[in-house]
Amino acid sequence: MRYKEFMGFRLSEIGIGTYLGDLDDHTDRRYYETIMRGLELGVNVVDTAINYRYMKSERVIGRVMEEAGREKVFLSTKGGYIPFDADSGEDPKDFFERNFLHTGVVDPGEMTPQGHYLGGKFIEWCFNKSLENLRTDYIDVYFLHNPEEQLLFIDRNRFLDKLRECFEVLETKVREGKLRFYGLATWHGFRVSRGSRQYLDLTEILRIAEEVGGKGHHLRFIQLPYNLGMHEAFSLKNQRVNGRDLSTLEACGEMGLYVYTSASLYQGNVIGRVPQRLKDRMGLEKDVHVALQFVRSTPGVGTALVGMGRVEHLEENLKIEETEPMNEEEFLSLFK
Ligand SMILES: NC(=O)c1ccc[n+]([C@@H]2O[C@H](COP(=O)([O-])OP(=O)(O)OC[C@H]3O[C@@H](n4cnc5c(N)ncnc54)[C@H](OP(=O)(O)O)[C@@H]3O)[C@@H](O)[C@H]2O)c1
Repeated sequence: MRYKEFMGFRLSEIGIGTYLGDLDDHTDRRYYETIMRGLELGVNVVDTAINYRYMKSERVIGRVMEEAGREKVFLSTKGGYIPFDADSGEDPKDFFERNFLHTGVVDPGEMTPQGHYLGGKFIEWCFNKSLENLRTDYIDVYFLHNPEEQLLFIDRNRFLDKLRECFEVLETKVREGKLRFYGLATWHGFRVSRGSRQYLDLTEILRIAEEVGGKGHHLRFIQLPYNLGMHEAFSLKNQRVNGRDLSTLEACGEMGLYVYTSASLYQGNVIGRVPQRLKDRMGLEKDVHVALQFVRSTPGVGTALVGMGRVEHLEENLKIEETEPMNEEEFLSLFK
């Protein structure tokens, strides 16, 4: 396993994601075995979210960390969607009313139709619940989950106020020793052009983090999709930094942010779709290896997250570690 150094941490260049999968015990068991095996093979980055598999993914990771040791995992989770707890045995409507409505944690008028929410009390609730699910007293990275979804419903100033409120909660968690870093995990926000409704401007966002947490603020991580079919993070120059137009990956490098790529296999869709000429060019036979080679060789990528709920997928994917990443020149030649 190759590692990237970042602010005193060594992060594996491939991380395990836990988004997809059914809500059954069988899937829990497979994730448990896969993450355990991943740790043996040198993976330390593990990513989840409170709403993934309705809290079941967080609980699996909690069991893994209890067994293997908390320090073996560089753990990220997220909050942003109003979560349900699949293990609560409650009706989802009762769960929502009891936890969010009657307590005033959520103002229903501020929810998006998809159940997205940004607010200080809500993020605090999710953060505390994640600690409980994960059986830990600290989280390495806490992501606001797809915050740009709010921009479809509220204006930009109101959106930035909401971000500020959440950053205040997260900086407090850092001061309390319950969190190391925080960031934004996005789907559209960093892949669309300036002027698009859901566009996220890194300069603007970091200015707010600095207002809240000073120069030493803890907003240090960004997550966005990047794969053979979605390469805007590298190819679209949509961030303006000190008067220069940069791609999101370049801007993150400039601003000292570490990047996790999500959907590194295009949510499994690369399989069976990689052109033979690309395989020949990279000297790799398997679609997954071409896909991972592309992501890990991209300048500016920190860790490629791959959803893996089967040991055989993990072991197959990690075979890419036997190959050197492409150098910058080889990588750039793919775009010619
Ligand atoms: N907005 C966001 O914040 C956001 C959005 C999407 C994803 N993410 C994060 O990024 C992680 C990765 O993205 P993703 O899980 O959506 O998509 P992905 O990593 O592109 O693909 C995961 C899918 O590929 C399958 N797979 C993995 N290795 C394989 C192999 N060798 N052969 C065949 N199939 C294979 C997995 O199956 P098995 O599970 O059966 O192994 C799973 O169905 C997520 O798990 C999540 O942590 C974040």
